[in-house]
Amino acid sequence: MKRVKLWDKEFEISLPNADIQLAIKQMAIKMKSELEGKEVLFICILNGAFMFAAELMKEVELTDAEISFLKLASYAGTNSTGEVKELIGLNEVITGRTVVILEDIVDSGHTIKGVIEQVISKGAKEVKIATLLFKPDALQEDIKIDYVGIEIPNDFIVGFGLDYDRRGRNLKDIYTLVKE
Ligand code: IMP
Ligand code: MG
Repeated sequence: MKRVKLWDKEFEISLPNADIQLAIKQMAIKMKSELEGKEVLFICILNGAFMFAAELMKEVELTDAEISFLKLASYAGTNSTGEVKELIGLNEVITGRTVVILEDIVDSGHTIKGVIEQVISKGAKEVKIATLLFKPDALQEDIKIDYVGIEIPNDFIVGFGLDYDRRGRNLKDIYTLVKE
């Protein structure tokens, strides 16, 4: 099994790039059929979702779509701090729009819950959630996720945008922390 070392920890490949690309392609097809005809604003949650958003936007064949970015942080090391800091806010007009939030991963759900509340408070007509990865066993919030790429076990992962203390975001495959 392919391994990488980031700082003090070993990670082992768990989702090869081909599996990720396939999940994104399937999500793009579903989005096209459900969102065609709407003026969609995609909001990519930085930093983690940058790679997912880039791949999805290339696959989703919607012409009346726009993309914007919101920068958040809630993790320290391999644990969620539970506190979500908004770093770069949303400047777009949200009122009356269909917003699709693009997340790298939904873990406890605290981050996405905060984003949903913010987007609704700005007057969105409709808010949909798309996440590349979902840890169902870690979810602590009552939220509905409209688009899920891949469900994964409750383990810490890196790659394809996800980091361990800033490292590993550029890996094209996804790796799981090796517990020794
Ligand atoms: P939540 O608020 O607990 O749902 O966490 C969401 C955010 O934490 C995601 O946007 C990720 O940036 C980060 N995160 C959650 N799980 C992992 C992981 O396994 N590896 C790296 N980052 C993660
Ligand atoms: Mg994130």
